[in-house]
Formats: sequence, C-alpha cells, structure tokens
Amino acid sequence: MSLTVAQNETTLAVTFADGTASAFHHIWLRDNCRCSACLHPTMGERILDTAAIPLDIAPAAVAGDAMGLSITWSDGHETRFDADWLHARRYDDGPRARPEPVLWDSSAGSPGRFDHDSIMTDPDAMRGFLGHWRDHGCAVVGNTPAVPGEVERFANRIAYVREVNFGRVHDVLDDPSSYNVASTAGALKLHTDLTSYSWPPSAQLLHCIVHDATGADSILVDGWQVAARLKAEDPSAYETLSHVAVTFRHYDDNNHVSARAPMLLHDGEGRLTLLRMSPQTLLPLDIPPDEVEPFYRAYQKFARMLQEPANQLKFRLRAGDMMCVHNHRVLHGRTAYDPSSGARHLQDAYMEFDDILGRLKILEDRARTARDVA
Ligand code: OGA
Ligand code: ZN
Ligand code: ZN
Repeated sequence: MSLTVAQNETTLAVTFADGTASAFHHIWLRDNCRCSACLHPTMGERILDTAAIPLDIAPAAVAGDAMGLSITWSDGHETRFDADWLHARRYDDGPRARPEPVLWDSSAGSPGRFDHDSIMTDPDAMRGFLGHWRDHGCAVVGNTPAVPGEVERFANRIAYVREVNFGRVHDVLDDPSSYNVASTAGALKLHTDLTSYSWPPSAQLLHCIVHDATGADSILVDGWQVAARLKAEDPSAYETLSHVAVTFRHYDDNNHVSARAPMLLHDGEGRLTLLRMSPQTLLPLDIPPDEVEPFYRAYQKFARMLQEPANQLKFRLRAGDMMCVHNHRVLHGRTAYDPSSGARHLQDAYMEFDDILGRLKILEDRARTARDVA
C-alpha cells in the first residue's frame, strides 16, 4: 500500500492509499524506529533508550512512496516504516479496540458446548472454543475422558496450569475432613474461586469424572452483566463495592492465603476487570464503622441480583463434562446433593487468561496466514 505524508509542527500527517489517514507524533515515530540499532533484529524487542529521545525531536526530511515512509532525523539517523505496519497502528480506531465481552443472562440457555477430542486435535476447533470462553466467560467441553488427570492434560494442551495452595489439580468430593465447603454435599453458593489471592486465577477448569448422585445441579451467572445492571440501577451500591476493601482467606494446616480488596476491581481505564465474591471465605468486616451498613446494603443488593433466576444458567454436569469459567467474571455454584444416592467426583485446575489469550492469538494469526496463502 502506498502513502503520502505532510509534515506538521509535532506530527506527520499520513494518508494511506485506502483513504484512511492518521497523524503520528515525531517522538512516536522515532521511538518506534524499526532499524536494527533501535529494535533487536531477531527478537523484535526495543533496544533504543526511549528516555534519551529529545521531546522536540523533528525530522530533517520525510518522503512517502509506494512502499512506505522514510524519515531522516536531524542527527542523520534513518528510519523506514512499511506502509502496512503503520496502517495497522494508526491512531484513530481499530488496533487498540479490545474485544468486548458478550454479556448474558438465563436467555443464553447454555454456557456453550464444545467437543473435547476436536479441541485436542483441530486448531480451528480450539480457536472456536477459546474465542467463546473469552467472549462469554464460560464454556462446557463434553466427551472428556472421565478419568483423573484429564483436566491437567487439557490445560497443558492450551497453555499452563496455575498452581495454587490446593495443588496443581485438586479433587472435589464429599470429604468431611476437607477444609473447603466445596468438599461437602451441601449447596455451594455462587462464588468465584480463590478470592484470597491478590491475583485470583483468572481461569478455572472443573472436570466432572463421576456424577451418580441426586442433586448437585451447576449454576453459572455472568457477574459482569449483573454488575453493569447494579451500576445502572443503584450507583451508590456499585460505588461501595468498588471502594470498600474486604478480606478473603483460605487456609489449612500448611497454607494461609489472604487478600484485602474491593469486590469490584477496575483497571486504569475504569473497566470492571476482577470480580470477587466468596461468601464462604469472606472474613468478618474490618472496615471503618460508617461503612459497615452501606457495605451490607450493597452486598445484599448485589447478591440478590446474582440469585435472580433470570440471571442464572442451571444445568447438570455429566461425567466427561469440563466446565470452564472466567473466574474474574463468571460466578459458579451448585445445589446440594445426597451423597447416599451415588458418588460424585470432580477435579479442578486453574489457568491464567493471559496464557489462554496468547494461545488464541497464535491460532488466529496462523489461520489468517493460511487464508492469505490459499
Ligand atoms: C469448586 C466448586 C462446584 C461443584 O470446587 O470450586 O465450586 O459443582 N465446585 O462441586
Ligand atoms: Zn533506528
Ligand atoms: Zn468454586
């Protein structure tokens, strides 16, 4: 693609052959020089010291041509940009847009079902599954071999297991000696896992190996959807859950993990990124007295909204199903079951979405290249 260029005081105005245009600041252009003295030629990482570039740096000469943009800087350094590379990084829109989550409620009907063997053997199937998990925050993978260890094998096929104080993989069974209410036959209220870490694992895989008991239906709720509704309907409750820090704790004889954080955590751009909800591990409030009543009011409002049937997907995991959730977004729970009616055994493992999105990016890039070649 060709381009034309005009020089302004602090920017270059670039117009591409497809009619799109963008300004690029002189310092941005110098900082992103692609030459081998500025950017490592094989690793693609920056060698240039950004801090050493004069803020008022300006080109001595610029030229646009059929292939791209050439700049000669006042100290004689030469920079050359490929037009397609610059086009993909123009300031205006696309490149910086992130995929928006697809918010859902009970009308979604199902968390989305995928086939284990297809994901393990077909990159397109894995791409479809990971894209759904990213966008909807949940998915169920069916036809997984119903034997212990498969959850780790599956996780390793995608990326890496995040090891936690429960171990790399941990068993969920009715076990009265356990330290975790998940390991009882009682109802498990809606929660996210391991809120006691300052960075809870962002992805959870729950593999159902045996499910012969009566009861124990699974429930999923899109916490980001419900939080968005809370923000619209009761901004002050939303604000309280976003600012009052509470403490969650997990422990046993050999481990003690705790984190103090608001239940709704936002990134630097104000987007909700990390929802914590764990009635079973929330410690007694240790907050200024005038925040106690507002906190309980906000907590109850949010918890009741999460419990509304209109927000819940309810289904039964069968042996061989693996439930995958975005643990900073989607809450899970289960109804009580009768352990005398039959056995129930699940295995849990955790991952990080950074690694999952990395796998998805590579699969998407490869699919694009294959399409271009075809
Ligand atoms: C868990 C959990 C749900 C279930 O182990 O974290 O929530 O269905 N289990 O047993
Ligand atoms: Zn350079
Ligand atoms: Zn859980």
